[in-house]
Amino acid sequence: MTTLLNASNVRKTYRLGRVDVPVLRDASISIEEGEWVAILGSSGSGKSTLLHLLGGLDRGDSNSGPIQFGDEDLRKFSPRRENHYRNRDVGFVFQFYHLLPELNVLENAMLPALVGLSRLRWHREKSALRARTTELLTTCGLAHRLTHRPSELSGGERQRVAIARALINHPRILLADEPTGNLDAETGRGILDLLAERHAAGLTLVMVTHDATIAARAQRQVRIVDGRVV
Ligand SMILES: Nc1ncnc2c1ncn2[C@@H]1O[C@H](COP(=O)(O)OP(=O)(O)O)[C@@H](O)[C@H]1O
Ligand SMILES: [Mg+2]
Repeated sequence: MTTLLNASNVRKTYRLGRVDVPVLRDASISIEEGEWVAILGSSGSGKSTLLHLLGGLDRGDSNSGPIQFGDEDLRKFSPRRENHYRNRDVGFVFQFYHLLPELNVLENAMLPALVGLSRLRWHREKSALRARTTELLTTCGLAHRLTHRPSELSGGERQRVAIARALINHPRILLADEPTGNLDAETGRGILDLLAERHAAGLTLVMVTHDATIAARAQRQVRIVDGRVV
């Protein structure tokens, strides 16, 4: 088995006024290629904090242990490498979708593929990119919504767009933070089915949830307790 991500003794402390609030205290987790791991924990236990660190969206304390992506240490990334990691190596799905309201579904999903693309390459590649994004959105059940704005979509449809956006650059790993947390049970099941399909097709998946029923869909479950992964 190949280890994709390996966090060991990660520490993250927030400072509230003059008080230090340690959230992660030597948290360790290893993600193998092809796995579907659920990270459980009560509200405020540090699930989002850990996922943000794994996705390179935030950094640990100065005395934190490493997060390894293959043989690279995220702490040692240059700004350029960090941007590339966030944009290409990982995909991130948020509970509240974070779509851009003025862009339509196709444009939202395509956006990460446009980052860093020169005008020349955009002109050369735009029709291929549009076709690839349309195909991905179709497999996400959104073929009939391509030109709609997010405000015209249901919550489940918005999350499908967010998943397509997270997958457009073929990430090595998808990190999903309570992806069904804002949805009713049935709509949430549809989103989990979509993630399960992607996992079956080879995607490595790390999903944060506070709900044991949702976590049961994963292959492996871990829990954050007192700032550690147990
Ligand atoms: N930016 C921040 N500044 C200060 N405290 C924060 C910040 N983000 C999170 N926290 C605190 O850290 C703890 C863990 O937060 P979080 O990782 O969001 O938990 P979870 O996702 O498990 O609900 C909570 O007590 C939260 O209030
Ligand atoms: Mg959270």
